[in-house]
Amino acid sequence: MTTKCEALIEWIDARFPLTSTWKAHLSEYYAPKNFNFWYAFGILATVVLAIQIITGIFLVMNYKPDGTLNAAGVPVAFASVEYIMREVNGGWIIRTMHSTGASAFFIVVYLHMFRGLLYGSYRKPRELVWIFGTLIFLALMAEAFMGYLLPWGQMSYWGAQVIVNLFSAIPFVGPDLALLIRGDYVVSDATLNRFFAFHVCAVPLVLIGLVAAHIIALHEVGSNNPDGIEIKKHKDANGVPLDGVPFHPYYTVKDSFIVVIFLIFFAAVMFFAPEGGGYFLEYNNFLQADPLTTPPHIAPVWYFTPFYSILRAVTYPLFGIDAKFWGVVAMGASVVILGFLPWLDRSPVKSIRYKGPITKTLLAIFVVVFIVLGFLGVKAPDYVFPFGVPGAPVAQIFSVYYFLFFITMPWWSKLDKCKPEPERVNFK
Ligand code: HEM
Repeated sequence: MTTKCEALIEWIDARFPLTSTWKAHLSEYYAPKNFNFWYAFGILATVVLAIQIITGIFLVMNYKPDGTLNAAGVPVAFASVEYIMREVNGGWIIRTMHSTGASAFFIVVYLHMFRGLLYGSYRKPRELVWIFGTLIFLALMAEAFMGYLLPWGQMSYWGAQVIVNLFSAIPFVGPDLALLIRGDYVVSDATLNRFFAFHVCAVPLVLIGLVAAHIIALHEVGSNNPDGIEIKKHKDANGVPLDGVPFHPYYTVKDSFIVVIFLIFFAAVMFFAPEGGGYFLEYNNFLQADPLTTPPHIAPVWYFTPFYSILRAVTYPLFGIDAKFWGVVAMGASVVILGFLPWLDRSPVKSIRYKGPITKTLLAIFVVVFIVLGFLGVKAPDYVFPFGVPGAPVAQIFSVYYFLFFITMPWWSKLDKCKPEPERVNFK
């Protein structure tokens, strides 16, 4: 039996790089032995990507991207989601996996990116890993935005209306661009059809391609670690890093355990709180889309809200151009600026463990700012905090902090009093 298997593998190897790929990316890919909890989120993001693609395929079998009304006066798309939830065998489980997966994706990816900030994983030689990551994040936002239109509920409809209208603020080309995106003068069946095509086909292809590029780039240079030092500097006589362990079986086993824990939490949300308190599935979206009734308060899903707050924070026109346009620019810039991080951080060390008090304080404030911006983005623009603190100026000040954190980083990251990095990784 073994010889037959070996013969088969030999046959394949003569035609396809099976064993060499397995070795290069798993059994002989040496990962630092000091990975901690933060290093699980890349694998978890991969697991969620797989969940989304698989459940998405099954959803498409019964979903209908059709905005016209059926005989009962219900939009066909909305009715098809209800049909999946009530009539299709196991449909509810597939749909809740997909909707929970959308929020889980962003939770996992935000933590994954934060790990990068903590340990300076974006620094040389991992700039491309980070840039591919930023592009993945942009693609993920586009994917989630277009997917949200598909159930054709009130929030789907009006959320898309608000966001697509923003494009019309771009000077000269704006109105035509918005028309091109919608395929109509308002969000309509034409919009639903093109968003469906992008959501199920174009963007997933881009995402898969980018994730492949992300991992290939990472494996070319090797993983960073919580100490932020390069394990490739110390190798044994065979060229194996002294502080590295083969990814398989060490991390495949460790990651499998973490994936199981993650799936327990995932299942708990799916079975006991699929709406996630109205954050994962918004209550207004259980009402069918009605182009004639605008909901009193339109807010994007929670994962977009920090950026939405930045958009809303811009209220002044500039150079004779509407504030709406500058809001869009600020929102776009708040994501794009992440891509420049490798060149903004001038610290002599990578990991937060050896950075000084300035970095630690500014990063802690950044986290608070990001969360408060997210919170304010869910609320109406006239939200008032307890003790009468108005939300709008807080969002403006915090948006300024968001940008200053990055723009002034070259200065304060150099100024900070860092501790010396150790020669070898810390591993107990
Ligand atoms: C679909 C989304 C994503 C998937 C599936 C994914 C997957 C992975 C995997 C499997 C790893 C190796 C394991 C690990 O270090 O955690 C990794 C590493 C990394 N990812 Fe991602 N990633 C995604 C999104 C992002 C985003 C949005 C960014 C940043 C903007 C990013 C930045 C990084 C960096 C810098 C590393 C290297 C970390 C290190 O060596 O310390 N990733 N990613």
